[in-house]
Amino acid sequence: MDLARQAIEILRANDRGGYTVPTATGLYPAQWNWDSCLVALGLAQFDEPRALVEIETLLGGQWPDGMVPHILFHGDDSTYFPNTSVWQAGPTRRSSGITQPLVAATVVRRLFERTSDLAIRSRLTALLPKLLAWHRWCYSARDPYGTGMVSIIHPWESGMDNSPLWDDALNTVEPGPSVAHLRKDTGFAAADERPSAPEYDRYINLVIRFRDRGYRADRLYDVSPFRVADIGFNAILQRANQDLRFLLAATGDVAGASEVATMEQKTEAAIARCWHEEDGFFYGVDTRTSMMIRKPGIAGLLPLFADAAVAARHPRLVQRLESWLARVAYSVPSFEPGRTEFEPQRYWRGPVWLIMNWMLIDGLRRNGRAELAARIRQDSVALVERTGFAEYFNPLTGEPLGGSAFSWTAALYLLFAAESA
Ligand code: DGY
Repeated sequence: MDLARQAIEILRANDRGGYTVPTATGLYPAQWNWDSCLVALGLAQFDEPRALVEIETLLGGQWPDGMVPHILFHGDDSTYFPNTSVWQAGPTRRSSGITQPLVAATVVRRLFERTSDLAIRSRLTALLPKLLAWHRWCYSARDPYGTGMVSIIHPWESGMDNSPLWDDALNTVEPGPSVAHLRKDTGFAAADERPSAPEYDRYINLVIRFRDRGYRADRLYDVSPFRVADIGFNAILQRANQDLRFLLAATGDVAGASEVATMEQKTEAAIARCWHEEDGFFYGVDTRTSMMIRKPGIAGLLPLFADAAVAARHPRLVQRLESWLARVAYSVPSFEPGRTEFEPQRYWRGPVWLIMNWMLIDGLRRNGRAELAARIRQDSVALVERTGFAEYFNPLTGEPLGGSAFSWTAALYLLFAAESA
């Protein structure tokens, strides 16, 4: 069977009716926020109505304050830790209590622009107030002092759970009781491909602190012992701001478009301040200590996704990316190869993720670097051809890592394969 057909079969098999689990293996038995959005991109390649439903289901879990949780639990969550009995979050007690990168508006724009079905367009338009409410929540809850950079309060909110970027900030969090015996993830994936035990203890301790405060968005910013203005989260948000503004303007919501334009201006200036001239790289900031996080993670390349002129302003950023690629067999590693923290098999400390590749391909094309984008696309396709639809891949060997038959890998493969056709 050809790989595009296999990708479609994976997406069909992981479909739980209105939402798609990231993998059928049991590792992630629920709906993850940014997984679902990126999966919708792939679904749209062969089933636009189903792609729309994926986003509708996700936004159906929006909290009254505008937050869209990072996990929605719809069914049996017994193979996952922490599940609903730990989180106890939200109006229905069927979600997590934190968010994830706001990639949804970017995906909705893609669906909106590609469809010729007026009924789908009108249902997508009906989602715009929800997207606007989520962006508004993000600025009010996570940037209450109006800096233009929103902060994450848990590594899980970045989506890049165990990136070396969080090491120092996370080390200041009390570990709390050990949760090693409660973890389920290491039953589905090798322990050296997953976050470490000390990281997990702190992840859960943060959850318990937020739970004890009733997940009150207006309180958590000041009390969280982990608080980081992540460059990756903000770059993704900034791109989503642009796409949301476009959609609001295209559908006649002038006031909404102007509100988002204001968010965009502030964040554009804030991202510009994250450029470190000496290092030639973008860094986020630990907003509890006001220290820049001077480590070269893939998040620091994501301004390429947010800003079509960044490569012209900062050619060293693209040179740095090229220097990473010269040291690996497959692009793009999630952390700079050769650094002491680089681990080619461990989750976000080095492996290749096709979702990052998709963002960088898109950003490089907008920045006029089509040839580099083509290399990353070729590597992405080659990884799947050689080793299958893994969650992530070793950039040195191409070895498949984490979960298998992975939904967002299948979805993005469909996108990349369609481009070469
Ligand atoms: C996990 O369980 O590993 C997730 O990334 C948390 O969102």
